[in-house]
Amino acid sequence: AVLAAAPALAGCGGLAGTLSTSGIRAVEFDQPLAIPPLAESEASGGVRRFHLTAQEGSISWPGMPEPTPTWGLNGPFLGPTLRARRGENVEVTVRNAVPETTSMHWHGMHLPAAMDGGPHQSIEPGGTWRPSWEIDQPAATLWYHPHPHGATERHVYQGLAGLFLIDDERSDSARLPREYGVDDIPLIIQDRRVDEEGRLVLEDSGREPGMLGDTIMVNGTIGPVLEVAAQRLRLRLLNGSTARTYALALADERPMRMVASDGGLLDAPVELSRLRLAPGERAEVVVALTPGETVRLRSLPVDLGAIAVPALTGADDEFDVLELRAAASLAPAPEPSWGEDPLHVPLRAQDAVRTRTFALQGRTINGARMDMHRIDEVVHVGTVEIWEVTNTESVPHSFHVHDVQFRILDIDDQAPPAHLTGPQDTVYLEPRRRYRLVLRFDRYADPAMPYMYHCHMLLHEDGGMMGQFVVIEPGTEDQVAAPGTGGA
Ligand code: C2O
Ligand code: CU
Repeated sequence: AVLAAAPALAGCGGLAGTLSTSGIRAVEFDQPLAIPPLAESEASGGVRRFHLTAQEGSISWPGMPEPTPTWGLNGPFLGPTLRARRGENVEVTVRNAVPETTSMHWHGMHLPAAMDGGPHQSIEPGGTWRPSWEIDQPAATLWYHPHPHGATERHVYQGLAGLFLIDDERSDSARLPREYGVDDIPLIIQDRRVDEEGRLVLEDSGREPGMLGDTIMVNGTIGPVLEVAAQRLRLRLLNGSTARTYALALADERPMRMVASDGGLLDAPVELSRLRLAPGERAEVVVALTPGETVRLRSLPVDLGAIAVPALTGADDEFDVLELRAAASLAPAPEPSWGEDPLHVPLRAQDAVRTRTFALQGRTINGARMDMHRIDEVVHVGTVEIWEVTNTESVPHSFHVHDVQFRILDIDDQAPPAHLTGPQDTVYLEPRRRYRLVLRFDRYADPAMPYMYHCHMLLHEDGGMMGQFVVIEPGTEDQVAAPGTGGA
């Protein structure tokens, strides 16, 4: 498919434009894996308050002659892990100390559209934004990142992203490793390219699937090593890359237990030996280790889909991600399990009040590019719908819907494999396939403020593969107004 070139990167600070080549740089695995600190918070008056400052910084990565200018939240690169419980009220003060207008989106969170941090909730340089909401969804591994229209790829690439963990009674009582940073390990997996002068390079070639780095980092660590002291390890995986899809496996492809998808625990653990993770997706897996062993988490060539497609840059790359070093004796840990009563409110096709269709092609959805002043879909609060999403072309996409956790009903009329039956907010769309999703739009009606749906391959998103929907009380159609551009 011939696609329009990405927007030029004129005037974007320290990012030099060069063309990518495929292949991942081999590195020594000898750096302790950084664990994002848990964000401090104060709880008072029934509200838990967090503070995030998007700021400029620099990092000295091993083997780089010069420190690399980066962006981060409360630090030079990436941000702290926010953590809150279901039922809590949270407030986050987000200060923008980077020299560009940005925003902060709570990816996977069920919350009012005005708190969502999408392109309409701009934060000017020097400005502050203070959203607050009630955590009202099951335990899950969510994340946050900027969402300024047309610049999301660049802002995430510079280092603005972090995790947001939700706990609930079920996750408290599940037999799962849960000691953060010890046997419950967050892994933000990203690829970057750093040039000889130590600058982060963001290509502007417009080539599919977008910016691919030659250096893999986990939580910002290049060549990371994790010392393990327990028999089982829970890995909270986030593909925080702008374009790269991973096929994660342990080096010997031993079975792993997938326990959670984007939106929380699966109905039951699913055994798999490799896991494809598209940009924006999360998964939690539990891996078992034997005393004294060293084993690497790797990414294998990515299976793009059953339908033959032209080779995609980077899809054949095979590389190590993280080295696990098990201690000579390991603390015992049980097989992952949790209660059998239903975890999530069921989402059933027969409850759907309507079906909408979405065709992804070029940088468009249903032939239209993102327009901040156009509302594309009007949904009634409290209803269930089916969204039939078709990838009409030969490149993959990663379809994300704000505010909801959906289920995949079927893929080209076939039931999804077990690991794709959990709650998801992002789904990899194989080339030339149709995915039927079932979604419930609950609680937050606002005819004046839209949520987004879009491709999470950020070159595509910034190029316009995004649309806007509002959730309204039936009968308030006349109040639907396209919002302003938030100063952009
Ligand atoms: Cu993670 Cu609309 O984004
Ligand atoms: Cu896409």
